[in-house]
Amino acid sequence: MYSRRKFLQTSALGSASLLVACADSETNNVNKPIVISTWDFGRAANAEAWTILGKNGRALDAVEAGVKIAEADPSNQSVGYGGLPDRDGHVTLDACIMDELYNCGSVMGIENIKHPIAVARLVMEKTPHVVLIGEGAQQFALANGFKKENLLTPESEAAWKRWLQKAKYEPVMNIENKLYNKETDPMPGGKDNHDTIGMVAMDAAGNLSGACTTSGMAYKMRGRVGDSPIIGAGLYVDNEVGAATSTGVGEEVIRIVGSHLVVELMRQGHAPQAACKEAVERIIRRNPEKAKNIQVGFLALNRSGAYGAYALQKGFTYAVKTETEEKVLDSPSIY
Ligand code: GLY
Repeated sequence: MYSRRKFLQTSALGSASLLVACADSETNNVNKPIVISTWDFGRAANAEAWTILGKNGRALDAVEAGVKIAEADPSNQSVGYGGLPDRDGHVTLDACIMDELYNCGSVMGIENIKHPIAVARLVMEKTPHVVLIGEGAQQFALANGFKKENLLTPESEAAWKRWLQKAKYEPVMNIENKLYNKETDPMPGGKDNHDTIGMVAMDAAGNLSGACTTSGMAYKMRGRVGDSPIIGAGLYVDNEVGAATSTGVGEEVIRIVGSHLVVELMRQGHAPQAACKEAVERIIRRNPEKAKNIQVGFLALNRSGAYGAYALQKGFTYAVKTETEEKVLDSPSIY
């Protein structure tokens, strides 16, 4: 039976969470519209999203336009054009998008198409499906006017060839490592190696949307798909509650359906940062030793415009843009 004592404990916990949620909102002191995105390269992406949000445009249009900036940037070796290839030298891209009505679209393992996020949006809007993969996704893109392009830049090809000398497969990413040398080390691992852009936004009408796009883990097995294009793992949007996205080792995020978990924790009253922290702790509980050596970060926005992040390791940053603020923040972390 549900005892009075248990009821009081639950109520007290609920009130505490609600207080935290309010405090978070007040501390950030933000209003809609707002856009937040993973990593410091999110700043340029947010600026592009703001060209739409700032004119009372739709959050869905804003997040698509925003992440396209990262997809087109060859210096960003974890997203789109210039992304590091799989172990066989193919750049394969993953992306998904979700709007305020649970509409969503995704492409997985698409090749030679610079803007997978735009293809994901077309999957959402022009097909009865949610996900298209590989050749089928490319065929759909070409049929809708996208052009085939070589996405492997000389820099990424050179990094892959350095990696091939040892072909050591270590899916470790995004851990701050001051010894990392971008010029000589083919394996991502330094502060400069970021992975995945995830962006969530709320427009002036109060509607939420999100987008997530990546070239995935560097030198991955051919056919490997991470969390980023999986609705609920790399991205989730619930207009009643909030939105969340993730970055880092996708396998760990998929196992806990991370972004959906963060949104559901916010539904239960957690503030965005507390929800992200709980998701990170769940990853640790599954395998504490493994969690010490990998990076995962979550980023969340709730309906009141409060936002927060949490990561396993130091080094995860995120970018925020509102009418009055434009900044990059360091995420708190466990380690
Ligand atoms: N988070 C990107 C990936 O694991 O592919």
